[in-house]
Amino acid sequence: MSQNTNYSSVTPTQATKLEGDDKRNYIRNLFDDIATRYDFLRTLVFLGHTSLWYRQALRDLQLQPGEKILDVGCGTGESTRCLNRFYPGIQIEGMDLSPGMLSVARSMDADSNYFEGDVCSIPRPDCTYDVVVTAFTFRNFPNREVSLAQMLRVLRPGGRLLILDHFYPEKPVLWRNIYTIWMSKIVPQIVRPFIADTTPYRYLAQSIINQLKMPDFIQLIETSGAKVTKTNTYTGGAAGRLIAVRHPFA
Ligand SMILES: C[S@@+](CC[C@H](N)C(=O)[O-])C[C@H]1O[C@@H](n2cnc3c(N)ncnc32)[C@H](O)[C@@H]1O
Repeated sequence: MSQNTNYSSVTPTQATKLEGDDKRNYIRNLFDDIATRYDFLRTLVFLGHTSLWYRQALRDLQLQPGEKILDVGCGTGESTRCLNRFYPGIQIEGMDLSPGMLSVARSMDADSNYFEGDVCSIPRPDCTYDVVVTAFTFRNFPNREVSLAQMLRVLRPGGRLLILDHFYPEKPVLWRNIYTIWMSKIVPQIVRPFIADTTPYRYLAQSIINQLKMPDFIQLIETSGAKVTKTNTYTGGAAGRLIAVRHPFA
């Protein structure tokens, strides 16, 4: 897929299998397109639960004033602003692939540094940050292994990586079925009045269905040079968090 190809030419199922530049271009186009409506539609789609998930996932990080944090895939900056609110005095930067999402982030927060960049080649030297956070992004990355290697590279040894993302609830089966119907059938209908093309939200549902299961996620991180020290799931497994510590001499 070229940089200008319309993302609607690929089905959501095909899109979840894209890798490399094809995935990068698909995702950049998609987020550029929905950037100005992203925050509102997300509140609608997840019935306001994202604020709750931020609180649950970010509140116990105990960041100290002066610590350097990178928010990878910061989008419109909600995760970045949340961290700034919870931990006054931290030095946080937000990086994203989508200029449209970054422009919304900058318009809402003139004080933080937001810059354009791809998780597969983070434009920062090794060992720059104490903590790297990435929220609701991992399913969209062009390559899982390279993304992890890059996020760990810019962390100092002993630094923490926090991944918060949507997961596909497993049990009870009734909840899984309700969630599947909500995401696949109802969400495309409720966003329709606000968006000409519902592809981004059909892709969202498919990417959640294709999300790694928690044990596979842990294994992937642990083969990338970090030790997973904490995992949590929220709202019956619809969201989850992993915290990993970069090996001291990795
Ligand atoms: C669902 S949004 C989440 C935004 C934000 N973290 C939040 O919690 O609201 C996913 C973001 O990841 C960004 N993203 C996807 N692939 C990326 C990549 N390869 N490098 C950097 N950012 C990426 C997208 O542009 C998008 O803004």
